[in-house]
Amino acid sequence: MAYIKVHVLLFLLPIILAIESSLSYERPPPRKSIFLSLSQDLDSSSPQQVHISMVGEDKMRISWIMEDSGSPATVKYGTSPGSYPFSANGDTTKYRYILYKSGEIHNVVIGPLKPNTVYYYICGPFTSPEFNFKTPPAGFPIKFAVVGDLGQTDWTTSTLDHISKSNYDVMLLPGDLSYADTMQPLWDSFGRLVEPLSSHRPWMVTQGNHEVEKIPILHSQSFTSYNARWLMPFEQSGSTSNLYYSFEVVGLHIIMLGSYTDFGPGSAQYNWLKNDLNKIDRKKTPWLIVIVHAPWYNSNTAHQGEYESYGMKSSMEDLLFKARVDIVFAGHVHAYERFTRVYKDKANNCGPIYITIGDGGNREGLASKYQDPKPDISIFREASFGHGELDVVNATHAQWSWHRNDDDEAVVADTIWITNPSCTL
Ligand SMILES: *[C@@H]1O[C@H](CO)[C@@H](O)[C@H](O)[C@H]1NC(C)=O
Ligand SMILES: [Fe+2]
Repeated sequence: MAYIKVHVLLFLLPIILAIESSLSYERPPPRKSIFLSLSQDLDSSSPQQVHISMVGEDKMRISWIMEDSGSPATVKYGTSPGSYPFSANGDTTKYRYILYKSGEIHNVVIGPLKPNTVYYYICGPFTSPEFNFKTPPAGFPIKFAVVGDLGQTDWTTSTLDHISKSNYDVMLLPGDLSYADTMQPLWDSFGRLVEPLSSHRPWMVTQGNHEVEKIPILHSQSFTSYNARWLMPFEQSGSTSNLYYSFEVVGLHIIMLGSYTDFGPGSAQYNWLKNDLNKIDRKKTPWLIVIVHAPWYNSNTAHQGEYESYGMKSSMEDLLFKARVDIVFAGHVHAYERFTRVYKDKANNCGPIYITIGDGGNREGLASKYQDPKPDISIFREASFGHGELDVVNATHAQWSWHRNDDDEAVVADTIWITNPSCTL
């Protein structure tokens, strides 16, 4: 009898395990921070931490940092390697944070640039290796990489490696970049870590709680480092703050909101958002996307009941609903979750799809506990590191996919077609 039982059990075990693993994916524990560049000997006379961001439809801002002072804020560029017929000048800034003094932060806007074209460039003092980037296409299709809460761990490098292989056009980052958390040299190491990607494609970012870096008495200003290092094209959209702005690319109007600056009715951000939504021409930009750090919809047990989430949602949800926003991406919760189209906590064909993509790989690890039972409006949720890709095929169809970091490979774990417009009131 016992012999038979054992055999039956042995026979069933792989099946039980297979069922088990198809239900839940067991993540390995988070890996330690790498801080690779602190131990790396850098040439202080070379440009470093190069990143680029779109300014209007045909210009690009090139940002880099010099440890040595006195180098020109100048970029030389052209469309073939080693030849730079064009040149542009910009501005230089620095900041202090308690005892830390930043290097010289240079920002130069170049253009007009041709769409879908590779540009080669060198930054002052021109001792650097040559960098290159590709401008976004002139029309559909266009592909975005989307990931928040990156940090700088082994998991971050795995996520970045997968993103670099995705052939994306523009990066959208919903906040929490370096996890420097007041240790300013970690902003520098983060800049070096992302440079291979951020010098190569535009990175459009907004800020999270880890960017605030305000300490009573010692440093009373918020966002000092973030604003100095990650200047975004806010003036072009009529915003008066680097903490919120919008931009357009191909057929998309993309709005970046700030979860950690005033958002209540009548605040500067609220009024700006209202005006910005009123200016949108859906014939020109049929897609409307919003990026924010703290999620308005979230069935993870992490970050429940926070004012930056429910306060902003109660202030701004109506504006987004009336404007027929297609997708709202958020970070903050270190996991992936996709909701159906929602308005006021109920499924609604006219509301946006809400997606949490805070799974970039930072040192705080994953948020793996979920509310039970799962709310009906939550369609897919999983606590694994990874990244998202939004492939906007044409004016009416886009494919969203979430790619889990399975060790050294990116695996598509969730994918849907999003159609626009899908709303029937
Ligand atoms: C848009 O793309 C979808 C998916 O590939 C396709 O089915 C549809 O026909 C396309 N629409 C137009 C107008 O080309
Ligand atoms: Fe956060």
